This record gives sequence, structure tokens and C-alpha cells, in this order.
Amino acid sequence: MKLLEKAFPVSEQLWEKAQRLIPAGTQTLSKGPDQFVRGITPKYLKRGAGSHVWDVDGNEYIDYPLALGPILLGYDYAPVTEAVVKQIKEGTTFTLMHPLEVEVAELLASIIPCAEMVRFGKNGADVTSAAVKVARAYTGREHIAYCGYHGCQDWYAVTTPRNKGIPKAFKDYMHPFEYNRIESLEKVFAENPGKIACVIMEVPGTDPAIDPATGKNFLQLVKDIAHKNGAVFVLDEIVTGFRYSIGGAQQYYNVTPDLACFGKGMSNGFAISAIVGKREFMNELNEVFFSMTYSGDTVGLAAAKATIEELLNKPVIEHIWEMGEKLHKGINDFATSEGVNFKIFGKPPRGGISVKNAKGEDDLLLKSVFMQETVKRGILYGGPVFINYSHSLEDIEKTIKASCEAIEVLKGAIESGDPAGVLEGEPVGVVFRQRN
Ligand SMILES: Cc1ncc(COP(=O)(O)O)c(C=O)c1O
Repeated sequence: MKLLEKAFPVSEQLWEKAQRLIPAGTQTLSKGPDQFVRGITPKYLKRGAGSHVWDVDGNEYIDYPLALGPILLGYDYAPVTEAVVKQIKEGTTFTLMHPLEVEVAELLASIIPCAEMVRFGKNGADVTSAAVKVARAYTGREHIAYCGYHGCQDWYAVTTPRNKGIPKAFKDYMHPFEYNRIESLEKVFAENPGKIACVIMEVPGTDPAIDPATGKNFLQLVKDIAHKNGAVFVLDEIVTGFRYSIGGAQQYYNVTPDLACFGKGMSNGFAISAIVGKREFMNELNEVFFSMTYSGDTVGLAAAKATIEELLNKPVIEHIWEMGEKLHKGINDFATSEGVNFKIFGKPPRGGISVKNAKGEDDLLLKSVFMQETVKRGILYGGPVFINYSHSLEDIEKTIKASCEAIEVLKGAIESGDPAGVLEGEPVGVVFRQRN
């Protein structure tokens, strides 16, 4: 506690007030202090430029959670900032519609394979919920097969441990299946004949498995099974959108869903999300209730337009893959050579940190040692490890060096048999987001 107060006085003063004023202390659970090593990590950031951020006490870090994904180009990335500032001066929201609604819809339709029509929301959960409503309206069915995380709205939140305040009956409509285990989805359909409105899934960091019999990948098999059973196939691209490729994971894996959801990554940090899809399904939104005061706010739309234009005109996707590959390889090779069970896993532009103990289980205490040692060296890691267009080769090299030093400390901590003794702050808490 002493170290904490000394190192981050402004952060700590704010947090003290926040605990009195803000239930849970934070607006976004994954940004809360318990997701980082408390005492070693600042709690509040106040400025960003490119791939670097500064905390309220003036410390600088190279950032990898990137605000949980949205900062695809960079903090205060000039073309986006300029477009937004210009738009703010012209007006942020109006009594009638704004041309940007049409322009951004047209842009998305030109780059995303399934996008014949487009509607906007603000957060990812707005549009995953819209997709579920559309599927229910289209099919006249009520049940949902799901895989992964889809946001805080009741239909999904009821499946998580944070389900207080939601009618228990909602859970009866929800049926989980497992990524890369197609039999788990077949079972859902077998047990609920004629009841499943849609299959909604995200693509986690690993590739879809290939079925040896048909040569089809898991996403294609999911789509086939959904269609065979009269259900809508929804791909949640809130994280994969504009990271895997400009047309999302659906383009990267060559499987076109009926509906898809985009959010983080489409506007470099401004609030906007989109449900896109085939006309046949999207037309349900003529009648489904999906209408909010700020869905067409011009700031998010201006940011999305500027971001997508950068993606079309600059080698953004190539860069984040190349830098991510260097980062993963540099760190993972060193961990292997040291015999430490540490890995940056996942796809190069969107990874995660895994540290396993002697039993081969994910170990949060060991992960905390790594995060402690890296944040002390100016590297801000969190749950996800994202790369943006502003991460330079110098950033990546500095990060590899700091991470390798942290792995050395981790190795010593493991060998000592008392990793907790190495920890100078409180360890990272259990990640709330569940995956199935
Ligand atoms: C795959 C996926 N879907 C949906 C969401 C929900 O997005 P939001 O938090 O913007 O509502 C998230 C958020 O992390 C996500 O990762």
C-alpha cells in the first residue's frame, strides 16, 4: 500500500473518491484496478499519442490493451482527430438525419462481404442485441445458441455470473456451444428442434479447426448446421472487425454470415457500432424496435469514415500483423529457450497472455509477476494484447526487451517456489469475461 501511494498519488486520490461515488468504481469492468497489479499499475490514464499513454501522475507507457481494442490507428491519430474536430464544429447531432449515415453505410457495404444493409449503434452490445432480435423476428423462434462473449445486455448477461437483476427465465432461451467442437452445436440443435432462432459466435484468438472429412473450417460447419436447421448465422466481429482483414474475420476465413456485428476498431476510439448483413434479414429492422437518440451521432460516424478511409489507403492491416508477429515471436522464443511456460497466444494483431503453472493450469499469480515487471519497465499489458498502426518497430523491440527481462524475473519467482514473495502489489483478479 505504501508503494502505491508514493508512486501514483493522483491515481489514488481519484480512486478514493470513485469508490464513494461510482458503484463498482469503474464504468467498464475490464478497465478496473483488479484487472491489473494494484500498487504497481496506475489506475487512471489521461492522455495518449500513437501507441503511448500517460497516466494522471505523468508516467508514460507503451499501451497494448488499446482501450480494450478500439484504438486501431493510434491515440490522437491526426486524420481521425481532424475529421472529428471539423464535425464537432459543424454539429454533433441534428433534428433530421445526416448524410454521414448514408456515406458510412455505403463504405461498410463496400468492404464487408455480408454487408448489404447497415444500421448503427454505440456499443457492441447494442448491435449484438439487435442481431438477436432480428433473428428472432425473422424465424419466429426464441432460443439462441451462443459461443463467446457478446456484451452486457440481459439476453446475454443472464448466462454470466453477473446475472443479478435479470429474470431467471431468460436463461432458458440460451444454449452455449464450444469453439472448435462442432458436436456441441449439433447437440444444441438436437435437444431443441425447431426452436433455435440464431447461432451467434465470436472468433477467439485461435483459428477455426478444419474438418478432415469435408475440408471445411469450423465457421463454415457452424453456418451449414445453422442453415440446415433454419437458424440465422450471426458472426460477432466486435473484436475481429478490421483487425483480421478489412472485411473482418468473415473475409479472412472466407465464410460469409447472414448478419455481423462490428464495434471496437471501426472508429479508432469513438463510440459507434454497426449491425450489417444480408437484406433479407436486415429488412426485419423495418419493424424491430431499434432506435436510439445517438445512433446516428455524427462524431462517431465522422470518426468511422476517417478510420475506414485510412484502412483503405494505408497498409494498416499489414502493419499490425507484421508488428504482432515480431512481438509474439520475440517473446515466445525467449520464453521457450528459458523453459518458462509463458506464451503470447492468438493472432498477431490480437493476442493474449498465458502463464501456466507446473500443473499446466493458467496461473494469475504468475501472470501478475509478469505484468508487474513489465509495467515497471513502461509496458502496459492487460487482458488482450492488441497492436495498432502507430506501434513502431522501436516500440516492439522495447517491449520484447522488457518482456524478456520480466520472464527472467518470472523464472526466478517460479524456481524460488514462492512467486507471491516477488509480488510487490496485489495480484490480478479473475477475468470476468467468460469464454465457452
Ligand atoms: C466479441 C465481443 N462482442 C461484444 C462485445 C460487447 O461490446 P461492448 O462492450 O462495446 O458493448 C465485446 C466487448 O468486449 C466483445 O469482445
